[in-house]
Amino acid sequence: MRHWIIALPVLFALVACGDTKDDTAPSEDTAPPEDTDTNIIPGFAADVLPVLTDNCGGCHGANEARAGLDVTTHASLMASGYVTAGDGAGSRLITVGSHHGSGWFDTAEQETIVAWIDEDALDN
Ligand code: HEC
Repeated sequence: MRHWIIALPVLFALVACGDTKDDTAPSEDTAPPEDTDTNIIPGFAADVLPVLTDNCGGCHGANEARAGLDVTTHASLMASGYVTAGDGAGSRLITVGSHHGSGWFDTAEQETIVAWIDEDALDN
């Protein structure tokens, strides 16, 4: 019997500790996502590839790679030499490609692609 009387407060203390940890964890978790929201790195597959294939794929696809540019895969895009990793605004994909023929990026699309190239044009 005496063991129970000693053990119960210890158990309650342990449970109480567990509760405080659970309470503090979510508040620590909510702060970092706000920071990262302002600095999202665009993904090639999700953000860049659809824009390129929609706007440029008609002339710069696997079948008709005008000027040696095939935008349909990361490898072929990088092999074209028109993307300078780390320099979105200076890449020919942007300086030339964004305003010629019938393939135009709108402002948001161009910002997405420039940001992706600035972040090293990864196959992400
Ligand atoms: C209607 C067809 C067509 C579309 C759509 C098109 N292009 Fe082109 N593009 C061409 C042709 C043809 C050339 C080669 C002749 C030239 O340089 O104008 C070319 C050349 C290029 C070059 C090389 C230019 C140089 O002088 O180095 C780049 C880069 C380029 N395109 C990017 C793009 C991008 C990015 C898009 C989409 C926003 C796009 N193109 C859409 C037809 C097209």
